[in-house]
Amino acid sequence: MLMKLRKKGAEADIYEFKWQNSKAILKIRKIKNYRNASLDLKIRKQRTIKESQILSQVKSFGIPTPLVYFVNLKKALIVMQEIPGKPVHDLPELKIVELSKEIGKLVGMLHKNGIMHGDLTTSNFIFFQNTVFVIDFGLSQNTIKPEDHAVDLRLIKEILNSAHAKIMESTWKNFLNGYKSIVGNANYVKITKLVSEIESRGRYAAVI
Ligand SMILES: Nc1ncnc2c1ncn2[C@@H]1O[C@H](COP(=O)(O)OP(=O)(O)O)[C@@H](O)[C@H]1O
Ligand SMILES: [Mg+2]
Repeated sequence: MLMKLRKKGAEADIYEFKWQNSKAILKIRKIKNYRNASLDLKIRKQRTIKESQILSQVKSFGIPTPLVYFVNLKKALIVMQEIPGKPVHDLPELKIVELSKEIGKLVGMLHKNGIMHGDLTTSNFIFFQNTVFVIDFGLSQNTIKPEDHAVDLRLIKEILNSAHAKIMESTWKNFLNGYKSIVGNANYVKITKLVSEIESRGRYAAVI
């Protein structure tokens, strides 16, 4: 089988190839030799299970995700549909500003349905055919705890701040508007308050 390495990540390698005539992505979680072998297998297996489960589960909430074609837990690999678009991270700034509201809505839909993504970066949203797809659910969790949802918001805010500093204000404002429109005002107030708390703790810790 002809496979092309697309990305060597810290945790997983991404290959592209043809799976039964469809363009597909193979994501394989690599062995980490610094971890105890059986613990390593357990972690890679667990993240593979989580990712493949949640990729399919969230479709029922209306979140666009790649179809899962095949899973091998022992090898910690997932074969999924290739979304042939562009990561939001690589889009022109104006487009990122515009899509931030939709991203906020998608995160709101996840949280409303009790799912924390766990790795909310602009590289984990793929824009294709006017639709924003969500990927990379290996660190996601089923949780309705506002504290967990606040951690998600804190991370994406940090990413917008660092990777997209010039457009931070408008992207964050749009993100929050989209998020609020889905989770409702009460949840919005509760969770953004927790985000501020996390941030002030961070500042305090940095001073010490
Ligand atoms: N189903 C997919 N369709 C298209 N591109 C993908 C797909 N899955 C992953 N990618 C590409 O590979 C990159 C890394 O995959 P990801 O699942 O985010 O793993 P990592 O843990 O390394 O971030 C993504 O940012 C995206 O560019
Ligand atoms: Mg990723």
